[in-house]
Amino acid sequence: MKRNIIITGGAGFIGNHVVRLFTNKYSDYHIINVDKLTYAGNLANLKDVENNPNYTFVKADICDLDTILGIFRKYDVDGVIHLAAESHVDRSIKDPFTFAQTNVIGTLSMLQAAKTYWMEQVAEGKKQMSDFRFYHISTDEVYGALEMTNPEGIKSDISDHTVYGKELFREDTKYQPHSPYSASKASSDHFVRAFHDTYGLPTIVTNCSNNYGPYQFPEKLIPLFINNIRHRKPLPVYGNGENVRDWLYVEDHARAIDTIFHNGKTNETYNIGGFNEWKNIYLIKVLIKTVDRILNRPEGADSDLITFVTDRAGHDMRYAIDSTKLKRELGWEPSLQFEEGIEKTVRWYLNNQEWMDTITSGDYQKYYEDMYSNR
Ligand code: NAD
Ligand code: DAU
Repeated sequence: MKRNIIITGGAGFIGNHVVRLFTNKYSDYHIINVDKLTYAGNLANLKDVENNPNYTFVKADICDLDTILGIFRKYDVDGVIHLAAESHVDRSIKDPFTFAQTNVIGTLSMLQAAKTYWMEQVAEGKKQMSDFRFYHISTDEVYGALEMTNPEGIKSDISDHTVYGKELFREDTKYQPHSPYSASKASSDHFVRAFHDTYGLPTIVTNCSNNYGPYQFPEKLIPLFINNIRHRKPLPVYGNGENVRDWLYVEDHARAIDTIFHNGKTNETYNIGGFNEWKNIYLIKVLIKTVDRILNRPEGADSDLITFVTDRAGHDMRYAIDSTKLKRELGWEPSLQFEEGIEKTVRWYLNNQEWMDTITSGDYQKYYEDMYSNR
């Protein structure tokens, strides 16, 4: 069936994997990637799909309601997968207003444009509201932080993995965001549900754990540290390195998004996670070991790079997702073992030094201008 789908934030880390999956898998869909190309947006992430006939890139700000409504009307949009956001916690601590603007006002503008366009279509008898879908991608950070009741780690009751406390985030865990980033994402989640409850917009929200894999902006722990190990630069570990994150390979997240967009129930929330808790310090040691092995350095040669620095303000202790609802209802589960995912990820960054260099030099931001000036 022909469908016109907006993916916002498609030039970012997770977005490019979702755009790639959808344009390659659904040749009958038209994918419209709406992205402002902030510092985090990089069209080089999409080189391999930019000439696909079912793909269009539109440079636009999600906060610009008129422009977004124009895109809905121009492309006759049937569905939205909304990823565009400011995503880095450290930046939100320095500049919370940008996070409120993009994540709250931007999401509200997307919802308002969708509602306006779809109400017009329904009023003209062209479509039924139930044919539409607004899928909002959110984070586990809205739930706040879990306690680390078992610092040594224990076997989980529900899967074959180590947990650092019995409690996990579930879909009914109450919202308790701590950082300006998570507060802005929590607010956007509430707006999405409000548009369902008030106007009958068919919406879905998912809350996912930490993603890792190719094309992640090197301000985030894993790509930053791989690059620093390679160049033998210090590895700034916040606090004592005991904080726990639940890591999921980004292509597994993209697969979950595909499953939920097509088969998820509207007005539902699904948690997406890796059943894969790691203390930062252990994860960093795995990164060092893997880079050293691949670069033929003596094992652990770069451990001296670990540098404990002042902790992140309000640093959440532990995140861990219970994604059994998604497995039970829609059959999704992570496909990649962490060891395999880390190996692939480290090799990708080491083999794509040019991609990394264009970011660290700032040249990547010229890609869009060059691409269009050459035509
Ligand atoms: P990212 O920072 O890598 O990419 C964000 C993208 O949004 C960029 O391409 C940027 O140009 C675009 N963007 C930002 N402001 C915009 C605006 N005003 N208008 C249009 N485009 C704009 O982010 P990511 O890590 O890929 O995260 C994507 C989404 O997934 C976010 O909503 C984030 O909250 C959520 N999420 C991320 C993770 C993770 O581990 N990275 C985990 C759970 C949820
Ligand atoms: O849980 C999902 C969230 O995961 C997403 O919603 C966010 O968009 C995404 O950025 C990520 O947030 P984190 O803050 O967990 O990711 P980050 O890579 O910034 O940090 C991971 C952990 O590593 C965290 O405990 C902080 C720590 N850290 C991070 C950096 C950048 C360090 O110790 N040193 C660092 O230099």
